[in-house]
Amino acid sequence: MGDLDGILDSLRTIAADGNAGWTTLPPAAFGSDALFALEQERVFKAGWICVGRADQVAHPGDYMALDVVGEPIVLVRDLAGELRVLSNLCRHRWMSVCLGSGNAKVLSCPYHAWTYRLDGRLWAAPEMDRHPTFDKTKVALPPIRHAVWQGFVYVNLDGGAELLAPQLAPVDARIAAYDLAGWVTAATQDCGEYPWDWKVMQDNGECYHHLGLHRDTFEANYPGRASGTWDNGGIFTYLWAPARPETRVKGGDGLDYVPGMEFPPMPGLDEGQRTSFLLVFVLPNFFIYLQPDLVMNMRVFPVAAGRIRLFADFIVRPEARALPDFQARLDRAIAFFNRFNDEDVVANSAIQRNLGSRFAAAAPLSTLEHHNRHFARWVAKQLTG
Ligand code: FES
Ligand SMILES: [Fe+2]
Repeated sequence: MGDLDGILDSLRTIAADGNAGWTTLPPAAFGSDALFALEQERVFKAGWICVGRADQVAHPGDYMALDVVGEPIVLVRDLAGELRVLSNLCRHRWMSVCLGSGNAKVLSCPYHAWTYRLDGRLWAAPEMDRHPTFDKTKVALPPIRHAVWQGFVYVNLDGGAELLAPQLAPVDARIAAYDLAGWVTAATQDCGEYPWDWKVMQDNGECYHHLGLHRDTFEANYPGRASGTWDNGGIFTYLWAPARPETRVKGGDGLDYVPGMEFPPMPGLDEGQRTSFLLVFVLPNFFIYLQPDLVMNMRVFPVAAGRIRLFADFIVRPEARALPDFQARLDRAIAFFNRFNDEDVVANSAIQRNLGSRFAAAAPLSTLEHHNRHFARWVAKQLTG
């Protein structure tokens, strides 16, 4: 698949009229190596990518390494308690300084034991004092531009993106009552690699498919037809899926909720928040599924055209951790995630295979696929603007 000029022509049309025709991207866009190269630069390196939660490196010395579109980075909490995001590429001969996650007083490269302070400055480099020009004081792991939004850590690899906070301020206004920055990451599941494009994953974000794929998991409580979507033309889509009135139950506080919550709900939510789940998609890689008691967060990292790596985070209010059966409740929440994710796996895998068919064509979108419409015009603009 993939004649880049032909794909870009289609994208220019979508970008020019703001996707007035309510269409998907052309099928060839989901499996093109040439387009993927462009996406890495213009979407993933130029944009804000969610890499995790600030509380995953909560204590001085905590570190967590990961790769973002081929760029090795490490999140570090320094001794003063400041969060830093550094290049994880050793300044010697390109080894990863940190592997996985842990806690350490210094970051020591496993290859030749060059050692860096937690702020990235080189502290020791065995035998290098005999090098003709080497000056240890001039060497440091380069800092990576980052921002923390609602407790989530974002990086901007090329350093040129517009400030993140103002772009997400309209979402802050709608989710302020949840106070998400104070919630804690209870579990992270590395779902591994999946054989579909990051844009197929984005297209799967709508609630229209409750009617078919998620008949048992979601449609029974949250009918797809009642879902709504809002965007401001920028880097997010905000969706809400209200519960059927007949499925609502009274909580311990006498207020209406949706059945099936595992944890005590956040106090102070309005009725719409208590009886809906919300979805906040920050383009291109981040999906928050927001319930009154639990956040499920999906971080999507493209590894190639037609291939992603997925992480899921389960985030709760700090009080929830004190419940005596906390782990059992969390396990049930994770099991529910795996149940609906397995349903999505069936569709996304088939779709990626089918996109190579000679009969595949750009598809018309229903009004319940407003997110897809917005996503297509947003990505078309990034790639052709
Ligand atoms: S590559 Fe890191 S010390 Fe040599
Ligand atoms: Fe789904």
